[in-house]
Amino acid sequence: KPRIVILISGSGSNMLTIVDQVTNGTIDAEVAGIICNEPEAAGVQRARDRDLDVSVIDHRGFTSREEFDVALMRTIDDYQPDLVVLAGFMRILTPDLVRRYEGRMLNIHPSLLPKYQGLHTHRRALEAGDDLHGVTVHFVTEVLDDGPNVIQAVVPVMDGDTEETLQKRVQLQEHIIYPIAVKWFVEGRLEMVSGLATFDGKPMPDTGVK
Ligand code: GAR
Repeated sequence: KPRIVILISGSGSNMLTIVDQVTNGTIDAEVAGIICNEPEAAGVQRARDRDLDVSVIDHRGFTSREEFDVALMRTIDDYQPDLVVLAGFMRILTPDLVRRYEGRMLNIHPSLLPKYQGLHTHRRALEAGDDLHGVTVHFVTEVLDDGPNVIQAVVPVMDGDTEETLQKRVQLQEHIIYPIAVKWFVEGRLEMVSGLATFDGKPMPDTGVK
């Protein structure tokens, strides 16, 4: 079975939706391990509660991003993954690491990319007065929060929304689309070919949401 490694920094809710779908057979793969850079993250305990193999690598124990990423790559490689899933992993990755897993590393970002790369996406969508907001799953390439889109979900921005209410609406969609993308990948339907995401061998259509 294809082996998946999931990298987290926080509550791990996206990790759990993927783990659940592996457990119930919707995704035909094996979760080889969970890696977290935050020792106190709630996701660490949640993963251990499910008897998953968890590796904690505290980035504060390293003097440079490069040194941390070398340790991270070693740990990832120990799990021999076919797919690396970034699920709220809040560290910027070095080009070396990104290149190593190019074409087999996915990320989820809480905006309609290419809009709002970086942090505080919900706040920025609210401040801009956007009617629509959403979330993107994309292949990871060397540019931060860039790389070919795989799947997006759009949500309305409602009157009276706060960062929190908007974030919750987006996260409901995250939990739907991320397992779908992972399922497509492990079934060999989703691939990155010459910098483009392809589905069943055909380029993914541009969603047109900019
Ligand atoms: C998710 O909402 C994800 O979109 C976001 O972190 C959250 C993690 O939640 N990712 C980013 O902001 C990446 N730049 P979770 O730990 O409950 O899955």
